[in-house]
Amino acid sequence: MESSAQLLPAYVARVERGLDRLLPAASARPARLHTAMRYSLQAGGKRLRPVLLLAAAELFPGKRPDPLPAAVALECIHTYSLIHDDLPCMDNDDLRRGRPTAHKAFDEATALLAGDALLTHAFALLASGYGAEPPLATALLRELASAAGSERLIGGQMEDLLAEKKSDATAEELEFIHLNKTAAMIEAPLVMGALIGGASEPQRETFRAAGRHLGLAFQIMDDILDATTDTATLGKTAGKDARAGKTTFVRIHGLDASHKFAREHTQKALARIAEFPGDSSFLAALAADLVARNK
Ligand code: IPE
Ligand code: IPE
Ligand code: MG
Ligand code: MG
Ligand code: MG
Repeated sequence: MESSAQLLPAYVARVERGLDRLLPAASARPARLHTAMRYSLQAGGKRLRPVLLLAAAELFPGKRPDPLPAAVALECIHTYSLIHDDLPCMDNDDLRRGRPTAHKAFDEATALLAGDALLTHAFALLASGYGAEPPLATALLRELASAAGSERLIGGQMEDLLAEKKSDATAEELEFIHLNKTAAMIEAPLVMGALIGGASEPQRETFRAAGRHLGLAFQIMDDILDATTDTATLGKTAGKDARAGKTTFVRIHGLDASHKFAREHTQKALARIAEFPGDSSFLAALAADLVARNK
């Protein structure tokens, strides 16, 4: 299989341009808030979720609505979740995407509000980007609201915190955390890309299943990297999970089994990606590269 490295930079560049174009200017009043939103959003990051959405939408032939507003909306939600994840009341991290976290660079209140504003802006982008096609807009809004909501992303974050320093956390609790805090926001781009492409309901479920496995593999790797990689490479504090007593894959299953689970979920994702319509070789290469990543 080819690597994703050849095509990835062009996708990422499209996302970066979209972020710049579809966010309020840093100078918009109040400038401190908009500067903080852009500070966190434009600090880099892999842009995995928006790239997945763009690549999924492109599998479908014919004229389709521009997937970029939906891609940017996903990155807004993801970045808000990182800003809040790093707050002292949550994971209390000082470094994110190679820079001081938002609450360090600004202050806690500004970080909280920048996160709130990014979350809200995501839904504004979907409403304005797809308002000309109300059934599509509704489906995208429903998908994103569900992925980011209290039974998925936020619910996963809640259980992640509840499981801190819990000596008897089970593999089932760990799976709930991973499925929801992370896999939900990796399923959503594939399903939303499929929706924009005009996928049928059974096709959408194939995209969802691929995202679920890819998301589980992704968070297992995140747990492995926290335990095995250095802060400079990661751009976020390494070794933090063990110090905070987090319930992670590495803690419950050990490093070797974690690698094995990550590879298995990647294989399951690849089997579903092979069922996607069109030429899914880029998505397959990206999935394979994610399990071999070092940050
Ligand atoms: C970090 O996500 C949070 C997790 C869900 C593991 P990423 O590893 O995608 O972070 P960025 O966007 O590249 O900074
Ligand atoms: C966070 O998981 C998942 C989110 C929804 C932000 P982590 O707490 O493991 O993410 P990192 O390691 O800080 O990026
Ligand atoms: Mg966390
Ligand atoms: Mg964290
Ligand atoms: Mg982590």
